[in-house]
Amino acid sequence: MNTPKLLFYLILFVMAGCAESKEKEEVVIYSYVEEPHSYAKPNNAFVNHLNLEIAVDFENEIITGKAIYDIVNNNSTQIILDSKNLTIESVMADGKETEFSLGANDKILGQPLTITIKKDTKKIEIIYKTTKDSEALQWLKPKQTADKTKPFLFTQGQAILTRTWIPIQDSPQIRLTYEATVQVPKGLMAVMSAENPKEKTEDGLYHFRMKQAIPAYLIALAVGDLSYKAISERTGVYAEKSMLNKAFDEFSDMEKMVSAAENLYGDYVWEQFDVIVLPPSFPFGGMENPRLTFATPTVIAGDKSLTSLIAHELAHSWSGNLVTNTTWNDFWINEGFTVYFEMRIMEALYGNERADMLALISRQDLDDELEYLKDTPNATKLKLNLKGKNPDDGMNSIAYDKGYLFLRTLEETVGRNKFDAFLKQYFKEHAFSTMTTEKFVTYLNTNLLEKNKMTFNTDQWVNQPGVPKNQAVITSDKFKNVEEILQEFIVNNEFDKEITKDWTPQEWVHFIRNLPATMTVEQMKTLDDLLNLTNSSNSYIQMVWYEQAINHDYHGRNVDAKIEDFLTSVGRRWYVETIFKAFKRNDRLEDALKIYEKSRPNYHSVTVMTIDDLLAFKPEEEVIK
Ligand code: BES
Ligand code: ZN
Repeated sequence: MNTPKLLFYLILFVMAGCAESKEKEEVVIYSYVEEPHSYAKPNNAFVNHLNLEIAVDFENEIITGKAIYDIVNNNSTQIILDSKNLTIESVMADGKETEFSLGANDKILGQPLTITIKKDTKKIEIIYKTTKDSEALQWLKPKQTADKTKPFLFTQGQAILTRTWIPIQDSPQIRLTYEATVQVPKGLMAVMSAENPKEKTEDGLYHFRMKQAIPAYLIALAVGDLSYKAISERTGVYAEKSMLNKAFDEFSDMEKMVSAAENLYGDYVWEQFDVIVLPPSFPFGGMENPRLTFATPTVIAGDKSLTSLIAHELAHSWSGNLVTNTTWNDFWINEGFTVYFEMRIMEALYGNERADMLALISRQDLDDELEYLKDTPNATKLKLNLKGKNPDDGMNSIAYDKGYLFLRTLEETVGRNKFDAFLKQYFKEHAFSTMTTEKFVTYLNTNLLEKNKMTFNTDQWVNQPGVPKNQAVITSDKFKNVEEILQEFIVNNEFDKEITKDWTPQEWVHFIRNLPATMTVEQMKTLDDLLNLTNSSNSYIQMVWYEQAINHDYHGRNVDAKIEDFLTSVGRRWYVETIFKAFKRNDRLEDALKIYEKSRPNYHSVTVMTIDDLLAFKPEEEVIK
């Protein structure tokens, strides 16, 4: 139980002892930080347990059912939940129908759902259904799946989309446990961020329990023709049949990753760490849903070369899921720590060489992002101000890569041993609780800097744009070698394939990303003829190569058709956005729009939103007959 909740129960207990003064007592019961992305007022009443009873209807593409909530009520006569694009049919409080109202609709936040309760109400119940605008949900036709025979559904809650499939207090500060009963069509399996089945049931009815309290954005559901294969007692993969063994092979180091992570920063408390491989339209590389990471199939390269993504989602089991950003303005508290932890897991498993390459890729990502955001320097601060914005728009890779660089700089300044002890303590002391940027700064001062009589320009790192001068310098011998070979090629126009035969995809990515703008189309052709980059089977290499093909106006080897294939089959936002940005930068908006019209129906709403915005795409108004 976290400190605010403990405090709350303590106060309730004391108040129970002096019942007469109860009415008059004005106490802040929940140390809730005002935040711009939830209507909830947990000081009055909050949900601490949810029981979902829902049915997944693929024919009508809706979820229907009932949500039953245990609430902690501070003498309030109303409780406010977040709701967006849901149909609320009826609401009960302690078993009796009660009044409710849906407030004005905000395009980003949705509507506050205000429910009338009694001062002693402990349970409420909502009958509701989702709509076609429930943005968390992506309903896939069989042809959009790996096996192509059964439909598929998955949810994406982060940042503020859980409210589009469950009426909920959708703030990272409000944690709840949950259980669920989910009816799906026979022949399909349902899995959640909870204790999961390992086999299909006869009747398509599944029961779930999540006994650890989590914020609403981590409630997740996937339904499809899934099977499970265990890697170790506590790790394994869910996937469609044609992907199961590939996923199993790719992720076979998962148990080692969990052990390495535990050695670094303390026990893995969620018991099970499974990964589900979703269809290719999944909008993220990975999503750290507790007990069950959701992952893109583009991470399955056949050679484990992209599995740092699994290390990343695993690391969120500490940074993010245990110690959660208080508001989305503190997003780097989730992602910066997670990238740092990810690099440490990769180093522990595969050594410095690989970790250095990953760190340098992150460093270059940071430079690219700083360049992209050069006209909006406030967006390059770690502490964000997302008020009035969709958090999904405001959250960029600064949180990841500048967050990482900050923590790495701290590590190098204080020394690894001290930094590791500090982080371990940090996770332990704040488990199942939340962290603001300011609270972290104070904690850092007290527990690391002052203790070691050190000063550090923390304020500059978190509250100023750009990157401070004292940044850690990241180098990689492997990448130095790549740069030399690239230089030779540019100068001599000759490329010796032999010397690259042991290159990892990271080396290729570095090589391709650093092709100079002055490189000629002929040189692009020479490379492609020699290396067949256009037909690479590694999704990361594909992405960076397609970006360069567009930058250099290269059209050989049918690359345009390949780019179109890639964009219409993959919905991973980072990939798709990188390529569409390249089209835009190179004045090929029309080509981009032509492809986008075809690919858009395959994308999840979060990718659609980003690309609509990027390409200023306006969907045609539906014609009313
Ligand atoms: N939690 C994020 C994904 C996310 C961020 C979803 C913001 C919604 C809003 C996840 O852990 C993540 O960072 N995924 C990355 C992969 C990672 C290796 C950098 C991704 O999807 O590319
Ligand atoms: Zn992450």
